[in-house]
Order: sequence, then C-alpha cells, then structure tokens
Amino acid sequence: MAIGFGRKLIWIFALLLILVMTIQVRAQPPPGFINIDCGLKNVSAYQDPTLKMRYSSDDEFVEGGEKHEVLPEFMASTADDNQNTLRSFPDGSRNCYTLPSTPGKKYLLRAIFTYGNYDRLNKTQDGSLFRFGLYVGVNLWDTVDLSNWRTDDAVIKEVLTVATGSSVSVCLVNLGSGIPFISSLELRPLLDTMYPFVNTSVSVSNFIRLRFGNITDYITRYPTDSYDRFWASYSVQKGDLYQYPYISVDTSDNLENLPGNEFKVPSAILQNAMSIDTNNSSITVILASLANKDAKTLKLLPIFHFTELNGSNPNRRFNIYSAGEGLFPGFSPSRLKVDSLYKSGLFKQKGDAYFILNKTADSSLPPLINALEVYALVVMENLTTDSDDVKYMKDVKEQYNLVRTSWNGDPCSPIEYSWKGLTCDYSKSNQIPRIITVNLSSSGLGGGLAISFMNMTSLENLDLSHNNLTGAIPEYQLKSLKVLNLSNNKLDGPIPDSILQRVQAGLLDLRLEGNPICSNKKDTYCLDKTKKRKATPILLIAVIVPVVLISLLVGMCILWKLLWKEKSTYNEDYAIYEEETPLYIDNRRFTYAELKLITNNFQTIVGKGGFGIVYHGILENGDEVAVKVLMETSIAESTDFLPEETYVV
Ligand SMILES: *[C@@H]1O[C@H](CO)[C@@H](O)[C@H](O)[C@H]1NC(C)=O
Ligand SMILES: *[C@@H]1O[C@H](CO)[C@@H](O)[C@H](O)[C@H]1NC(C)=O
Ligand SMILES: *[C@@H]1O[C@H](CO)[C@@H](O)[C@H](O)[C@H]1NC(C)=O
Ligand SMILES: *[C@@H]1O[C@H](CO)[C@@H](O)[C@H](O)[C@H]1NC(C)=O
Ligand SMILES: *[C@@H]1O[C@H](CO)[C@@H](O)[C@H](O)[C@H]1NC(C)=O
Ligand SMILES: *[C@@H]1O[C@H](CO)[C@@H](O)[C@H](O)[C@H]1NC(C)=O
Ligand SMILES: *[C@@H]1O[C@H](CO)[C@@H](O)[C@H](O)[C@H]1NC(C)=O
Ligand SMILES: *[C@@H]1O[C@H](CO)[C@@H](O)[C@H](O)[C@H]1NC(C)=O
Ligand SMILES: *[C@@H]1O[C@H](CO)[C@@H](O)[C@H](O)[C@H]1NC(C)=O
Ligand SMILES: *[C@@H]1O[C@H](CO)[C@@H](O)[C@H](O)[C@H]1NC(C)=O
Ligand SMILES: *[C@@H]1O[C@H](CO)[C@@H](O)[C@H](O)[C@H]1NC(C)=O
Ligand SMILES: *[C@@H]1O[C@H](CO)[C@@H](O)[C@H](O)[C@H]1NC(C)=O
Repeated sequence: MAIGFGRKLIWIFALLLILVMTIQVRAQPPPGFINIDCGLKNVSAYQDPTLKMRYSSDDEFVEGGEKHEVLPEFMASTADDNQNTLRSFPDGSRNCYTLPSTPGKKYLLRAIFTYGNYDRLNKTQDGSLFRFGLYVGVNLWDTVDLSNWRTDDAVIKEVLTVATGSSVSVCLVNLGSGIPFISSLELRPLLDTMYPFVNTSVSVSNFIRLRFGNITDYITRYPTDSYDRFWASYSVQKGDLYQYPYISVDTSDNLENLPGNEFKVPSAILQNAMSIDTNNSSITVILASLANKDAKTLKLLPIFHFTELNGSNPNRRFNIYSAGEGLFPGFSPSRLKVDSLYKSGLFKQKGDAYFILNKTADSSLPPLINALEVYALVVMENLTTDSDDVKYMKDVKEQYNLVRTSWNGDPCSPIEYSWKGLTCDYSKSNQIPRIITVNLSSSGLGGGLAISFMNMTSLENLDLSHNNLTGAIPEYQLKSLKVLNLSNNKLDGPIPDSILQRVQAGLLDLRLEGNPICSNKKDTYCLDKTKKRKATPILLIAVIVPVVLISLLVGMCILWKLLWKEKSTYNEDYAIYEEETPLYIDNRRFTYAELKLITNNFQTIVGKGGFGIVYHGILENGDEVAVKVLMETSIAESTDFLPEETYVV
C-alpha cells in the first residue's frame, strides 16, 4: 500500500510538473524570439495584448540616439503598439543595434519604421526625399524610403541571414536625406534547413510574402506561423477582395509537405488559394507596385508554394513565367501535398516583378496559387573585423568610457564607416579586417593602461600619448607591437622586463618622455624624439644639395657634348663621339682623405665657381689638378658630411 501511495504521489507530481511546464510554455514567447520596441520610455517591457508577446525597450541593444513618440493623433492608427515609440539618430553617420545570436544559425530579422510625424516636420509628406540606409552587419540590406509615404503607415523590412558570430547587428546609415529612425526590431531563429540558398555569404531581403485566397487579415504572422513570417493577403493588398473572374478555393483538410520541402509554410496559410474562372486560362500576379522598394535595382528570387485543394484531384497543369521568361513548364500541383518551387541561386537581374501562370493545352482547370515569396539578393561581400580585435576594442571603449560617434558598429568595415583613430589591414587572411593601428592620442584617457590592447595580435602601432594614464606599465607578452607611444602621461613604476627586452632588441620603438617614470632616466625612450628630429632637415639638405648639383653638372656636360656633336658630323654615333671628346671625365675616384692629401688640406684656392670653391692640387705622379668641391658651404662646415667619393675634373 505504501509503495502504491508513493507511486501515486510521483504521478501527481509528474502531472503537476507537466501542467506547470505547459502553462510556462504558453506564457512565454517561442525560444529565441527577441522583440524590441525601440524608444520605449515609460516601462522596460510589456506584454503586447494583440501579439501575445513580450516587447522590451532597446536600451541594452543600442548606444546613442533619441527616444520619441509618434504624435497622439497617429497612435490609434499605427500597425501595432510597438510602433508608437521610436529611436532617432541625429548624430553619427552609422548607428547600430547589436543582438545576441548563435554562430552559424539562420535568422529572420525584421525592422519596422513608422514615422508618425514624431518631429512635427511632416518629413514624409512635404515632398522632399526622406530615405536612409539599412545594413545587416557590414552589408547593405536595403534602403528605407519614406518619401511621400503615409505618415502613420509602417515600412517593413525583413532579411534572412546566417549569424557569423555571437551577435548580429542592424545599422541605420544617414544618407543625408533625413534623420534615420527605427520603431521596432525583431529577431526570429529559423531552422538551418529552411531557405537553403541562404548561407554565410548570401543573405536575402524579403521583397514580398503573399498568401492568396479569400483572406481579410492584412497580415498573418505568429502564432499561425511559428517562425513569425509576415504573410500579407494578396486580395487586401490589391484592394479588391475576390471579384470575377478570380475565384477562391479553400480546404480544411490538413496539408503535408512533399519530401525535401523544408520551407515549413504552415497549413493554415496554404489552405486558401486563388484560381480563376474556367473561361480564363492565366493568372498574372503583379508585385512592383506593392512594395516600398526600388525593384529595378534588385536581383529577385521567387518561391512559389502550391498545393491542390480541389477535392476531386482534377487535371490541373500550368506553366510559370517570370517577367516573360519561362521558369517552370507544365507544373501540376499535388493534392494536399505542398510543393515549393524555386530556382536556387537564380536571382534574376531585373526587378520587374510580375509572374504569369497559364494553363497548358491539355489542362482541364485553370492555374491556382496558394502562396508566393520573393527575395532580393544581399551579397555579404564585406567581412566583419576579426572577432577578437572587436572584443578587445569594445573592452577598451568600455574601460575608458569613450563616447565617439564613429565608434559604432564594426570597427573596420565597411571602410567608409570605420572607427576614427583606427587603421585596419584588409589584405590578410581571407580579407577579414585586422586592426593594426590604434591612435587614442589626446583622448582624455585616465586610469591604468588597458591590458586588452596587448591581446590584439595584429596591433603594430599604439599611440596613447598626451593622456592622463596613471600607474605602472603592466607586464605584457607583446605580440606584434612595433611602436608604443606612451609619452606625456602620468605613468610611473619600473618598466617590465618583457618590454625592455624588446626595446633593447630593436623590436619595439617605445616612447615614454613626459612621464614621471622618466624624471630621473636618460634612456633613449625617455628622450623627446620630436626635438631631436630638428637635426634631420640639415642632414637631408647636406645629402640632397650635392646630389642635385652633381646631376646638374653631368646634365650640363651632356648638353654641351650634344651641342658639340651637332656642330661636327651628323652621322656620328654617340658612343664614338664620347671617345673623341676632348672634354672627358676621368673615371678615377678619390676618397675625401686622398683629396685632402692632394690639395694639401685644401690650402690653395684657385677660383670660386658657381658650383663651389676650386682648390689647387698635385697628384702622386706630379700632374697638377683643380679640385672642385661641389658645395656652397666650406669644407670646415661640412665635416659632419664626408663624401666617400668625389669627382675630379
Ligand atoms: C509615457 O508617459 C508620459 C507621461 O507619463 C505620457 O505622456 C506618454 O504618453 C507615455 N508614453 C507611452 C508610450 O505610454
Ligand atoms: C503637416 O501637414 C499637415 C497636413 O497636411 C499640415 O496641416 C501642417 O501644416 C504640416 N506641417 C508642417 C510643419 O509642414
Ligand atoms: C562593401 O563595402 C564597400 C566599400 O566600403 C561598399 O562600396 C559596398 O557597397 C559594400 N557592400 C555591401 C553589400 O554593403
Ligand atoms: C470570404 O470569406 C468570408 C468569411 O471569411 C465570407 O464571409 C465571404 O463570403 C467570402 N467571400 C468570398 C468571395 O468567398
Ligand atoms: C464563362 O463560361 C461560362 C460557361 O462555362 C459562360 O456561361 C459565361 O458566360 C462565360 N463568361 C465570360 C465572361 O465569358
Ligand atoms: C477572363 O476572360 C475573359 C473572357 O474569356 C476576358 O474578358 C477577361 O479579360 C479575362 N480576365 C482575366 C483577368 O484574365
Ligand atoms: C474541382 O474540380 C472539378 C473537376 O475535376 C471542377 O468541376 C470543379 O469546379 C473544381 N472546383 C474548384 C473549386 O475549382
Ligand atoms: C552560398 O550559396 C551560394 C549559392 O547560393 C554559393 O555560390 C556560395 O558558395 C555559398 N557560400 C558559402 C559560404 O557556402
Ligand atoms: C503563357 O504565357 C506566356 C507569357 O506571356 C506566353 O508566351 C505563352 O504563349 C502562354 N502560353 C499559353 C499556352 O497561353
Ligand atoms: C595620432 O593622432 C595625432 C593627432 O590626433 C597625430 O599627431 C599622431 O601622429 C597620430 N599618431 C599616429 C601613430 O598616427
Ligand atoms: C588630465 O587631467 C587634468 C585634470 O584631471 C586635466 O586638466 C587635463 O586636461 C588632463 N590632461 C589630458 C591630456 O587629458
Ligand atoms: C588576453 O588573453 C589571455 C589569453 O591569451 C587571457 O587570459 C586574458 O584574459 C586576455 N586579456 C584580456 C584583457 O582580455
């Protein structure tokens, strides 16, 4: 009895547990869904009564920007409650939201924009251009165009993408035609097998997603579609619910996917379809006018979802054309079995999005269509910066509390939005950008030296001069660093051996002048190299002037020779002529020491020409020579520049 009672208890507990779990599952949004209500002010999160999902504020996903609300007169007419607030970005050319992700996982990202005249400037209705760029990570996803858009209407953008790292970002880019803003942002995990043409190098932006049949809901989404795809009703979009000759077909029978169909389109979406009166033979679906997109520039890929809903398994066969070009000839839908037709990798160049379905000669019924998705190609050609470099730079940004408008999104990519003060190398290992220079000179940095810098394995040049860095230099295992400028800070304490060794080996150019650590040191790294550099121009002049003068002299000789040549015979070869010339340059060269001997320490000046002073000299064989010193300066002045060789004429 006791054992039986115990078993019953276990059963009761187990049932309770299942009950509690079911309740919890019902109350929570599906795993992995992220719902962000941008610009949400009064609360940090709320349960949306219509969508039955929790939306939270964007505070933890974004930096910068301003929170705003649509004007009260538009609040009731916006698509959802989450469209009533927004975040705008008057500062910076790029601002990014960062959402957590699982590397390698496929996601649907949706951004929605409802203007609602939040700034009272009538930007969507004043006839001006109002558009900004939308990026998925470092690649252009789409352009949000709100010019001549209804003030309370939402612009919806969706992208299917594979996360390459532990976060995905969505960036708004100011194109100089109005301040970017965003009203909501949603992330939905997909199965890896869905949309097989989407991979790490190919993302797709949703052009349109339609369901056909007698559907009065403008959009069908979660929970009908457990991946929360937006299915717009074609008949509502077209503005005319079924009118002759179009007819709607539907079923309440359950549908099954044909083997290999991994699009997971819910039965409820495909149980309705559109057909046409038997007098007609074709259906034309024109999409160009339906989307807020510049169809002309897009490369589109359609996916057709078909299933036969007629109970008597009739003979229905049709051809499918895309903008006049044949895509699928003689297709016949299977009864209550879902077929999804698409041509993988075939993104058509032209964005003239219209499709014709016409019945084949042997078909007894006209065509039908259940659902259609059209995607635009987004080539993920720009790669994100090495993830370790990004992590360490973010650590640095956090440690020093750096607020910089350009320090948003990926540090190096795309190049036009890279962080100011960084230099990146785009040429190494598979073009993944690496950070090679960090210049935070005069940036008001305080506190200790950030250890994160030293973990950056590509960093070659670090300039932290003219800041208020304090404390000792930590012991580092320097990797690639070649220049470390810490001058004019407040650093003290001993210099770690690991750094000193590299300095002594000539592997590191260290600068520490202007720090307490240098107050009683005379090592080279404590000398102000900017002051010493003043000597360089003098040395340069001393080298350049003679070189220029010698070239001039040689040039003049050649010119003189040429003139001579013209005076003499015309057909003479230059080489022959050179042998004959009475003015020849002795190939013999003398060192400075030899010249000193020959001229008896430059004792007798025989003349002063345009190119310098001419001294009298006697060679060892007794020949008298004139030694011309090719400088304006005297020999005494130029002893720091001793020419190894000099010509004697
Ligand atoms: C937030 O609170 C303010 C004042 O309490 C109110 O005026 C405003 O309408 C609220 N906003 C929303 C979106 O609830
Ligand atoms: C905005 O548009 C409304 C209606 O068209 C108009 O009444 C209002 O004056 C406009 N405001 C501005 C700032 O242009
Ligand atoms: C990749 O970056 C280049 C250079 O910054 C830019 O011109 C190009 O548009 C970017 N590609 C995408 C898909 O954003
Ligand atoms: C469409 O469906 C609604 C109910 O959902 C029905 O009342 C209406 O008659 C249908 N219209 C057509 C043309 O089938
Ligand atoms: C369509 O065909 C039916 C017979 O199947 C005919 O009665 C009707 O008049 C035709 N309608 C049109 C518009 O041609
Ligand atoms: C349907 O067919 C009729 C005549 O058969 C034609 O007048 C009408 O334009 C067709 N409608 C469509 C949408 O194809
Ligand atoms: C179903 O097919 C039969 C012929 O097999 C046809 O007579 C009937 O009109 C079809 N129904 C619909 C709704 O298309
Ligand atoms: C992604 O898919 C395209 C075809 O759609 C293919 O050409 C490309 O090699 C794939 N890239 C990766 C990284 O798998
Ligand atoms: C179907 O439509 C295409 C494109 O308009 C056309 O070229 C073709 O002749 C049509 N076929 C039939 C059987 O009507
Ligand atoms: C860092 O920037 C400052 C000016 O802000 C410049 O003087 C200095 O040369 C730069 N350092 C490097 C290493 O480029
Ligand atoms: C260092 O800090 C002091 C006061 O804390 C400030 O006056 C000075 O401008 C700072 N120097 C630099 C280079 O940031
Ligand atoms: C630097 O890398 C080492 C391992 O290579 C790690 O232990 C350390 O925590 C890293 N430092 C920082 C600041 O991330």
